[in-house]
Amino acid sequence: MNNQIHISFPAIPINEGVARMVISGFLMGIDPTIRELEDVKTAVSEAVSNAVIHAYPGGCGEVRMHATLDENKLELTIEDDGVGIADVQKAMEPMFTSCPKAERSGMGFTFMESFMDTLSVQSNPDEGCCVCMTKIFGKTDAYEM
Ligand SMILES: Nc1ncnc2c1ncn2[C@@H]1O[C@H](COP(=O)(O)OP(=O)(O)OP(=O)(O)O)[C@@H](O)[C@H]1O
Ligand SMILES: [Mg+2]
Repeated sequence: MNNQIHISFPAIPINEGVARMVISGFLMGIDPTIRELEDVKTAVSEAVSNAVIHAYPGGCGEVRMHATLDENKLELTIEDDGVGIADVQKAMEPMFTSCPKAERSGMGFTFMESFMDTLSVQSNPDEGCCVCMTKIFGKTDAYEM
């Protein structure tokens, strides 16, 4: 099945849940396993919450989510126009956070990387952040029942 959606919404906390619901509905057509669905919802939560928490300090801007399904391959992009990231490689390290006082664990990118098949992050200071992830559905996992 081929399909695509594009949505945009303000970077406010309630929209993390909205984005999760939207991606769940979008994937219904390919009948994902519960685990596949949870993996994608977690990745969406992490990417959207990053835009909500980090992208627009002291303000609120736009977040865009694009999802494309080509047969059983999902391509998912979540982007903002916020402050961006100076050192993307550093930001993607497990347990790196720029907000330790807010008790963040610095595991968002690590979760996205482990729950999706591919992750790429493009960002520059003051040029927003674009997170692109892909996942192939229906792969059989030998260790899964
Ligand atoms: N959309 C974004 N805009 C600006 N900075 C970002 C964005 N997304 C991530 N970052 C930066 O990358 C760092 C690492 O992000 P990551 O999601 O891995 O951890 P975290 O958000 O700090 O903590 P956690 O996700 O575990 O609550 C953040 O602390 C922040 O500095
Ligand atoms: Mg995060």
